[in-house]
Amino acid sequence: MSRELERALDLVTEIRDFPEPGVLFRDLTPLFGDADAFRHVIDALGEAVGEGVDRLAAVEARGFVLAAALGYARGLGVALVRKPGKLPNVAGRVDYELEYGTATLELPMGSVNKGERVAIVDDVLATGGTVAATAELLASAGAEVTGVTVVLELTELDGRSRLGSVPVHALRKV
Ligand code: PRP
Ligand code: HPA
Repeated sequence: MSRELERALDLVTEIRDFPEPGVLFRDLTPLFGDADAFRHVIDALGEAVGEGVDRLAAVEARGFVLAAALGYARGLGVALVRKPGKLPNVAGRVDYELEYGTATLELPMGSVNKGERVAIVDDVLATGGTVAATAELLASAGAEVTGVTVVLELTELDGRSRLGSVPVHALRKV
């Protein structure tokens, strides 16, 4: 890994007891706010996503920021997976468990085509609930999930185990 990417990832800070007691929250805000760090992270995510991908998919909200920049850099469209109640036309909906609470995601109608090879991008892989739900939505719509690429993987929570055979790439594991 380059020194610049190491420096970028070192900007992530740890916040104890957020959003509830006992949770050690990794805050990527400084990384998003530093132009050089952000560029190095986007470049590294692009390499990790690899070739043979037709589209990216990302989850509101932080996933959108990464996928928008990466989609622009790689010339790929992005399927914008939303929190509930935002979409007029929903192709699929799934409820899932978070590290702290439960959540629902919705896939916009027409955001992926059948047979497309789609790579999921997100900032953090924690319990894996979010990306597993996203993969389920994409598969239901007929897409093939090529992999999951994240900035940070919280290994203790073993999110990978929820993704079956889908390859997971993390720029850093903590
Ligand atoms: C965070 C993060 C991932 C997800 C990881 O999103 O951006 O999408 O949680 O957790 P998991 O692996 O346990 O599912 P959050 O829902 O907090 O939303 P935000 O991007 O709107 O802050
Ligand atoms: N940081 C950011 N997002 C998250 C985390 C975290 O530690 N855990 C689950 N989602």
